[in-house]
Amino acid sequence: MTETLIVGIVTVSDRASRGEYEDRGGPAIREYLEAVMATPWSAQPRVVADERPQIETTLCELADEAAAGLVLTTGGTGPAPRDVTPEATLAVADREMPGFGEQMRQVSLRAVPTAILSRQTAAIRGRTLIVNLPGQPKAIAECLDAVFPAIPYCIELIGGAWIDTKPERLAAFRPKSARRNPT
Ligand code: MTE
Repeated sequence: MTETLIVGIVTVSDRASRGEYEDRGGPAIREYLEAVMATPWSAQPRVVADERPQIETTLCELADEAAAGLVLTTGGTGPAPRDVTPEATLAVADREMPGFGEQMRQVSLRAVPTAILSRQTAAIRGRTLIVNLPGQPKAIAECLDAVFPAIPYCIELIGGAWIDTKPERLAAFRPKSARRNPT
């Protein structure tokens, strides 16, 4: 039986958390996963304000209690004083995975010059990979397309579920030695 991947989806937004506008980032992440995931997964959605303690508590709860193998955050990565998602991510992390932020900024820069303002990163806490995405809903698929091919192998390497994507939408990459059906 294939293990179900639990995915924490964390919207970091003062206004969405107060109900002043509808959360569009969380649903965009869910829609992306519905399109690309080939193995079973379930979503654990959360909406929090741009406050470090709230974000840190939510990330710890998802990693340690909900046993999420993957946590995707959206929002709070810019340079404004209340943008603190990367700090909260690194504060609860065992280690940083800087390649994710580098790659996402690189592809986003092709779309908008202000992508350079994003401080998004990724990190590992225990058996959980946490990835920061920008708050702009249309940037979510763009950024995920750039890094998702490496996510199944990363989750496997940290002791999480074996997951796979729909190859016609997005092919996950694993080194030959790690493939289940080497071709
Ligand atoms: N990346 C893409 N692909 N598209 C965008 O519109 N907006 C940028 C950047 N990355 C953007 C993007 C802007 S304007 C900012 S301030 C940062 O992401 C951080 O956004 P956040 O504060 O919503 O996390």
